[in-house]
Amino acid sequence: MAIEINPSILSSDFSDLRGELAKISTADMAHIDVMDNHFVPNLTFGPPVVERIQAISPIPLDAHLMIAEADRHAPVYAELGCASVTFHAEAAAAPVRLAREIRKLGAKASLALKPATPIEPFVDLLGEFDQILIMTVEPGFGGQKFLDVCLPKIRRTREAISAAGLEIKLQVDGGVSMSTIERVVDAGADVLVAGSAVYGAEDAATAISGLRELAASHVH
Ligand code: DX5
Ligand code: ZN
Repeated sequence: MAIEINPSILSSDFSDLRGELAKISTADMAHIDVMDNHFVPNLTFGPPVVERIQAISPIPLDAHLMIAEADRHAPVYAELGCASVTFHAEAAAAPVRLAREIRKLGAKASLALKPATPIEPFVDLLGEFDQILIMTVEPGFGGQKFLDVCLPKIRRTREAISAAGLEIKLQVDGGVSMSTIERVVDAGADVLVAGSAVYGAEDAATAISGLRELAASHVH
C-alpha cells in the first residue's frame, strides 16, 4: 500500500497561493477545502478560485467539498479539472448518481464522512467510489485536535474495502501530524491530509517527507 501525503492549503497564506503551492510540489496532491458557510460554519472559496489554483498548481488537486447541495454543486469541480472530487455523504441526496457523474467527467469520486456518520450504510456502495474520506475532526477549521474516537471507523472501513476486494483509497483528514499519523496508518489509512502540520512547519518539504517516512514505516 503506497502512502500519499496531501497537504491542505487551508493553513497556507491565501495572499500568495502560487508561492504556497510551490512549497508542496513534492506532495502527492494539493488538498483544497471548499466551504460554503452552510454545511460548515466557515467560508473559503468556490469555482473561480479553484479554477485559478488548478491552472497554477504543480500537483493534481484533491478537492474536499464541505458544501450543502453537493448533487448540484460538486460536478463543476470535476469539470474544472480536479483529479479527485470528494463530497460529503451528509450533503448528497443521491450519492451513487453523483459519484457516477463525477467519474463520467473524468475525476475520481470520493465520499466523505463526518465523525458521527457511520460507514455501514455505504458498505454495499463502496465500488461506486475511488476513495473514502474519514474526517477525524468536525469539518470547518484547520488546526483542530485529532479525534481518536474515529479510529475504529477507519479500521472498519479498511476491513470492508479488503473484504470487497476493491482498490479504494482511504483518506483521513483532520489533526494528522507527526504525533498522530502512526495511529492513522495502523488503522488502515493510505492517504493522509495535513494542513497545519505542513504549513505550520518551518519547511513544508521537510514536513512532507517526515510524515511520509513515518507513515511508510507503519504500513502493514
Ligand atoms: C477541516 C479541513 C481539513 C483541514 C485540516 O475541515 O477539511 O482539510 O485543513 O487541517 P489540519 O491538518 O490542521 O487539521
Ligand atoms: Zn479537508
